[in-house]
Amino acid sequence: MSRDEEQEEKFEKQLQEQIMEQIRKLYSETVIDHWQNPRNFKTLISPDGYARVKGVCGDTMEMFLRVKDENVIECTFQTDGCGTTIVCASVATELAIGKPFIEALGSVSAAEILRVLGGLPEESAHCAQLAAETLRRALADYLSQKSAPWMKNYRKT
Ligand code: FES
Repeated sequence: MSRDEEQEEKFEKQLQEQIMEQIRKLYSETVIDHWQNPRNFKTLISPDGYARVKGVCGDTMEMFLRVKDENVIECTFQTDGCGTTIVCASVATELAIGKPFIEALGSVSAAEILRVLGGLPEESAHCAQLAAETLRRALADYLSQKSAPWMKNYRKT
């Protein structure tokens, strides 16, 4: 490696450290963890519950559920949103998995997502609302599939 390349690498490393320092001032370790390793960031084929919601900012989120014996056994998401949107969806899926679907419906809220994350800057709080709303609608979709299974054939996924 040439001296110039070494200098460039050193500069890049310092820059990355400075950026991380700034990020740590704004976000908790939990946020950074979910941002670097989002959980359940994938689609599910033929889910038992599904929702696609557009947030106030124009970002879209989808959630996919697998339910067995009334328990949420899988919950996944996709989004075209920003990093905090991904973080909020990731936490929402973790909060839902393993819960009876009725409990997930009653307990996973934007406030709960923000509590787990140790808060978010004011301008990003709506990302938690989008995640909670998408989950709520996917759970509601599961409920309506139960009473009218034929509806699944007319769903977009
Ligand atoms: Fe749109 Fe996060 S910025 S949901």
